Amino acid sequence: MNLRKKVMNKFAIKFTNKVSDFMASYFECIDVSKTYAKGQTALRSVSFEIPMHGVFSLIGRNGAGKTTLVRILATELMPTSGKVFIDDIDIIREPDSIRRRIAIIPQEARAISWLTPMQTVTTFLLYRGIRYSEAKARAKEVLADLGLASVADRMNRMLSGGQKRKVLVAALVASDADILFMDEPTTGLDPISRSELWDILSDLKKEKFIFLTTHYLEEAERLSDRIGILDQGEMKAIGTMSDLRSMVPKKYSISLVDKENGNIEIENNGSVIKVGSRIFVDENEAYVIARDLINRNIRFSINPVSLEDIYYSIAKKEIAGGESVQD
Ligand SMILES: Nc1ncnc2c1ncn2[C@@H]1O[C@H](COP(=O)(O)OP(=O)(O)OP(=O)(O)O)[C@@H](O)[C@H]1O
Ligand SMILES: [Mg+2]
Repeated sequence: MNLRKKVMNKFAIKFTNKVSDFMASYFECIDVSKTYAKGQTALRSVSFEIPMHGVFSLIGRNGAGKTTLVRILATELMPTSGKVFIDDIDIIREPDSIRRRIAIIPQEARAISWLTPMQTVTTFLLYRGIRYSEAKARAKEVLADLGLASVADRMNRMLSGGQKRKVLVAALVASDADILFMDEPTTGLDPISRSELWDILSDLKKEKFIFLTTHYLEEAERLSDRIGILDQGEMKAIGTMSDLRSMVPKKYSISLVDKENGNIEIENNGSVIKVGSRIFVDENEAYVIARDLINRNIRFSINPVSLEDIYYSIAKKEIAGGESVQD
């Protein structure tokens, strides 16, 4: 079945494959659409193919369709149309053949308040068919690895928000699943707890494939091997950071630092930098504009194009010189 070629032809971006990618399993999503019963269309003919190793992050605004896609890929929700394959297994038609390999932390998941972390993880493993003695031993080991040994027998309701979130991650880590879905695992966590969870996920991704959604672009850029940008139910871009960077024709972005500056006309074909937006420039343009802004005593920042720049280019459909991003 040569579906891969068919899907690849749909994309402007070529995937950058590493040697390890060729050994990994692949997720193939072909023309997946979802319209909910009340007529709300959440996904519109989404197609992509990604190697299942490392971390894949799905980003996009509220209502973009991220949770819908995650639930379909995790075999929790039926698409209205389309196909999803893991290697040659049609997981929509044969979900039972893959479910053992999948575990998910849904967006709204909370650790049950009247269980302890030890009970939470053990119960999750029992539910997945692991024997009691083994489940207990694994739970103990993983809770210790994640720094939760000292609270393992305390009620979840007595833990901090970050600890509660780690308990859910511990259940996935301890499970036998190797395809892990985490829908906004770090939302609402303080920067330190978030950074602790990043360390855990960075370790975990060496052994398991993690498909996560996030609103933190820094998190996606830091953790991910590949990133997808979903907007209004359509996959606007997908690939490695360098694939995504190639969508923005210039290498640097310039933005104003002082909010009171208003709209500033710059010495570059008369373009204007608006407060709160950015322009993309190449090296020579950066030099001319920087000199001009320094001479006029206007504070600005200049940085290599980041995921945030790419995301805003796509989300706001604006790019250097007013060119729109190609879909
Ligand atoms: N059970 C449902 N019934 C009807 N419409 C739904 C249902 N779940 C989601 N939707 C709609 O589908 C669209 C996509 O929702 P989804 O939850 O997938 O977005 P999301 O990208 O995960 O958003 P967020 O970042 O807020 O979590 C939204 O317009 C939403 O209102
Ligand atoms: Mg969601």
